[in-house]
Amino acid sequence: MDMIRIFCPATVSNLSCGFDVLGLALEEVGDEMTIRRTSGSELSILQSEGPEIPLDPDQNVAGVAARSLLDHLGIQDGFAIEIAKRIKPGSGIGSSAASAAGAVWGLNQMLGTPLSNQELLTHAMTGEAVASNAWHADNVAPCLLGGFVLIRSYDPLDVIQLSFPKDLALAIIHPHLEIKTAESRARLGDKILLKNAVAQWGNLGGLISGLASGDHGLISRSLEDHVAEPLRKHQIPRFDAMKSAAIEAGALGFGISGSGPSVYALCKGLDPAKEIGRHIAHSFEPQGIPFDLYCSRIHPEGIRIIP
Ligand code: HSE
Repeated sequence: MDMIRIFCPATVSNLSCGFDVLGLALEEVGDEMTIRRTSGSELSILQSEGPEIPLDPDQNVAGVAARSLLDHLGIQDGFAIEIAKRIKPGSGIGSSAASAAGAVWGLNQMLGTPLSNQELLTHAMTGEAVASNAWHADNVAPCLLGGFVLIRSYDPLDVIQLSFPKDLALAIIHPHLEIKTAESRARLGDKILLKNAVAQWGNLGGLISGLASGDHGLISRSLEDHVAEPLRKHQIPRFDAMKSAAIEAGALGFGISGSGPSVYALCKGLDPAKEIGRHIAHSFEPQGIPFDLYCSRIHPEGIRIIP
């Protein structure tokens, strides 16, 4: 294969009670990436659309992920990776993950799929680490695998695809502010109180059980964050007002998407998500900061070829 064009979905990670261990793939929001074989042995990054990204392959998450994969496979061919960046960097919906996962998934397809999607994960994480300065898979895993995923363990890496009710949908508000994941992680420190850990474990178990059994009440009760939200929400203007608006309008839960500034409401159905999204947007508007509203189901597939 000399060329491939793919869709790399945006992702929502953490889902309140699953810091660094939960993530899901969205349906319609995402980047496009075109990878072409070139003569020679260079890896190059091109950009056709969107906010400026580093074009040096050693500084670009797609370039670093691609290099990790090609070195692992001992491939010295040249490739040009062209990115239409539609997920804004620093938005909290997996912009860097889409680039890192897209590069390794697309190359793997072009090379005749020598690795499984699970095996591609560490290469995608190597790219993602350039942006976040951390080793986390909760955006790259749902981007590669699709659906709703749990990172049960990082060492060794053990990623589980979860069952979930098919009627779930999300409303996402992306305020046009940039929060760098590395900085947002630095706010958290490296210790949490035992009582917060106990609350978080209970909710994580509850959420996964509720997803598996289709118990929307249990899902709703479990969407609480005792770890990151209390320390991060002050970076997001009108967070508490948006949360109240979402819950009053019937959302199952509301929280920060990844490290923010995007926020998500999990909803029962796409039409309710659109209605709840309007309520959240209404409560954010007085802030005067431009924003995007996305409403989407969870997509069972991750990255896919654009026909
Ligand atoms: N779990 C990561 C964090 C996701 O919250 O820092 C970053 O998108």
